[in-house]
Amino acid sequence: MRLLPVLEGLHSAEAFNRPFLESFLELVKRVEQQPEGFADALRGRVIATVFEEPSTRTRLSFEAAAHRLGAGVITVADPGSSSASKGETLRDSARVIGGYADLLVWRHPRDGASRLVAQCAGVPVVNGGDGRLGHPTQTLLDLYTLHQQWGSLQGRTIGILGDLLHGRTARSLAWGLAVMGARVVVLPGPGLDWETGFERRILDRFSYRLQRVRHPLFRAWTGAAEARLLAPEGLTQGRLFAGDAQSLDHLDALYLTRLQAERGAGERSQGVFPGLLVAQLRDPLLAKAVFLHPLPRRQELPEEVDRDPRALYFEQARLGPLVRQAVFLAMIRSDLHPLPPLQPLPAGSADHALGACPNRNCISHAEQVRAPWRVEGRIRRTFLCAYCDTVLEVHYVGCRSSRRVHPAHSPQVPKILPENLRPFPSRDYALDQGYLWGGA
Ligand code: NCD
Repeated sequence: MRLLPVLEGLHSAEAFNRPFLESFLELVKRVEQQPEGFADALRGRVIATVFEEPSTRTRLSFEAAAHRLGAGVITVADPGSSSASKGETLRDSARVIGGYADLLVWRHPRDGASRLVAQCAGVPVVNGGDGRLGHPTQTLLDLYTLHQQWGSLQGRTIGILGDLLHGRTARSLAWGLAVMGARVVVLPGPGLDWETGFERRILDRFSYRLQRVRHPLFRAWTGAAEARLLAPEGLTQGRLFAGDAQSLDHLDALYLTRLQAERGAGERSQGVFPGLLVAQLRDPLLAKAVFLHPLPRRQELPEEVDRDPRALYFEQARLGPLVRQAVFLAMIRSDLHPLPPLQPLPAGSADHALGACPNRNCISHAEQVRAPWRVEGRIRRTFLCAYCDTVLEVHYVGCRSSRRVHPAHSPQVPKILPENLRPFPSRDYALDQGYLWGGA
């Protein structure tokens, strides 16, 4: 029995797994080598692109991809021109537009919007960027760009620098890199680190471990001499103890991101500049590194870098339509190139009394709906908002089959089958629901 229905489409880099990604990268290569073989693949199909936030590259590259495959395109490029400006709910818009198209590409300022759209649309939905949460097709593009350089990403070291707190490309990329077995150096600007819960989920899902590494450039970029390194366990030699940060001697890639001013990031803080300076180009740390950036850039990536052979970001942008052709093929023409299935992303269960999602930017608040929960974690169960992945506070966990309730940290809880889990905000609430106290 499956507890939760699964969302159709591509909402999050968390749906990736290694077999899918490897086969997907092959598909991109096939389309690149033989574009004419796919010119009619989507003839008669309609793709809708709905962008409720500014976009140049993402929308146009999706639309170019659709045209290259022979599909028709309908679009909302300016949220002011759609019924959202008349107060229509996202749910209604999704229902209506889902009736016009075979696939929706949706961008929205709220975290988790793509998943809510998918619940209502009735056709596959591809996330074109939702709030701070995710941008999975940008990650596919980033991974393909790196794959072209290196082949396998396993064991490569990639620094992600800039606004990790508000930047969805950084979050999605970190997840995608972990799927591929790469090492990630986390380089947030001051006050711009992602939430610890996110990183813990990566460590748990991929059996990664956290180390500390140091390099003189880190202080200029982040304000701290040391940075965190997420690495596959098997690759590390020996144990690193507190105070024992290893010196990092090279990066294979540096992924730069802009400060997301529209999401509340300040410009510069404490004299630290989370970006690349021309003088840093000669540093041995970067001798072999390629430079990526999802664009648009601001001061963090000076134009002087463009002439440097390590600069790959315009090549990365050029690959956008090609990678998105493969996304469409994977979503609606899997008969042409069957791919291993994505990791199912549960739509979540609204069966709980946990209250509102603590993330104010969660789509559940704007839509005034109850946030569903989902659960993950092998050793310790973590309950997440199924829309925006915010970790929910759950103090008691019940088992639907035994009708017993335990404290959330009880060793009994990981033994409960996921489909039998029921989170409770308090013990009394659980007892009121007819559950018996099962102890710690
Ligand atoms: C990114 C986005 O929208 O998240 N842009 C893009 O899709 N290439 C990055 C950004 O806006 O900073």
